[in-house]
Amino acid sequence: MTPSDVKATLSFSDGSPSVELPIYTGTVGPDVIDIRKLYGQTGKFTYDPGFMSTASCNSKITYIDGDKGELLYRGYPIEQLATKCDHLETCYLLLKGELPNAKQKEEFVDAVMNHTMVHEQMQFFLRGFRRDAHPMAVLTGLVGAMSAFYHDAMDIDDPHQREISAIRLIAKMPTLVAMAYKYNIGQPYVYPQNDLSYSGNFMRMMFSTPCAPYTVNPVLERALDRIFILHADHEQNASTSTVRLAGSSGTNPFAAIAAGVACLWGPAHGGANEAALKMLEEIGSVDNITEFIKQVKDKNSGVRLMGFGHRVYKNYDPRAKLMRETCYEVLNELGLHNDPLFKLAMELEKIALEDEYFVSRKLYPNVDFYSGIVQRALGIPTSLFTCIFALARTPGWISQWEEMITDPEYKIGRPRQLFNGAASRDVPEIGKR
Ligand code: CMC
Repeated sequence: MTPSDVKATLSFSDGSPSVELPIYTGTVGPDVIDIRKLYGQTGKFTYDPGFMSTASCNSKITYIDGDKGELLYRGYPIEQLATKCDHLETCYLLLKGELPNAKQKEEFVDAVMNHTMVHEQMQFFLRGFRRDAHPMAVLTGLVGAMSAFYHDAMDIDDPHQREISAIRLIAKMPTLVAMAYKYNIGQPYVYPQNDLSYSGNFMRMMFSTPCAPYTVNPVLERALDRIFILHADHEQNASTSTVRLAGSSGTNPFAAIAAGVACLWGPAHGGANEAALKMLEEIGSVDNITEFIKQVKDKNSGVRLMGFGHRVYKNYDPRAKLMRETCYEVLNELGLHNDPLFKLAMELEKIALEDEYFVSRKLYPNVDFYSGIVQRALGIPTSLFTCIFALARTPGWISQWEEMITDPEYKIGRPRQLFNGAASRDVPEIGKR
């Protein structure tokens, strides 16, 4: 990184000497002020819980312009990737920085599809879970356990071993999610079939049984593939930052990504698609929208309009538009164009977009507003929605982890704090406490 000619000067009202701080300019987006030497120079930390104004790394992978509603993977707009590419091409792009040519694509698809099967022993590990456990609890465990099953390629200083782990994660995640589902409903696991597409294979592992032939519906296959593309990466979001922070200690990629899966589970992040669908079901009918919106506006109610709002997008989330389009296609294909939840969602969106509360706070639908309806139509149970998100986000997590490991400026992440607790004191005798 080369500092720009402009510098920031930080001065203090108590007469302490001011300090000059370097500024770096990216390709696009806000400049950053380099505060790495601030503590050494002033004895002061910066304070930014929630990282509202902090760039935690420099990255070449994903760019979001929240005001324009723009999302680029390696420079390519999400709208073009979602319509012109498939998920494995998108994975290649995220990992390697460029879209594959025909030969590179063939080799990559081959590599991924030849790693789809998981160690046979994995099913015995899975059996240790209660059948009624939340699939995200199971998936967190399964991904973490990959480091016990695939420890032959975990030297993070070896680029070849890192690549094998990346391929294994992308390839095996669908198998693990499908196994968690089959275990939950008491059906036999379905082994992967590698001549299918990435998404088609996942649908077969999820929805087929050994008792009947299964044909992949191409419209639904494409819809699922689009869900994967739209969720594949999203800059330094909470789960990706978690993967980077966990990985910064030098832990293996499976452990780091298991931490990302755990973070994603929360309702403010990946859990929002599940929460959004539950919310629509609870609202139940268009007649109840006004009362629901009233509750959302009441700060004491604790009710939020799930699938709305975003830390970065202060204009329409571009993924939400694409997801709404996919929603139409899937419901039409399945003859569900009168789906009451879809109608309810569109009406709720219309009302919210005209309401001063949402307008003034720049709250727009995010990707999760419609993804739940699509997934439900595909036959995916609500409790599995966040697992689908985790599966889709895996290439983003592993690409960001790879970028961090190979960054010459990479250091273990170690934030500091503003300490407000008790200063040093003596432990009193038990009778005097
Ligand atoms: N419904 C009602 N009010 C909201 C909502 C919402 N969904 N989101 C934000 N607000 C209000 C919030 O109450 C606050 O109002 P005020 O200024 O009067 O106190 C204002 O908008 C700013 O909210 P914030 O919580 O400070 O914003 P944030 O940037 O910290 O939160 C968010 C972003 C995504 C956590 C939040 O918008 C939210 O909880 N949304 C619902 C959950 C959701 O859909 N999450 C999925 C995000 S997209 C998928 C992903 O990347 O994981």
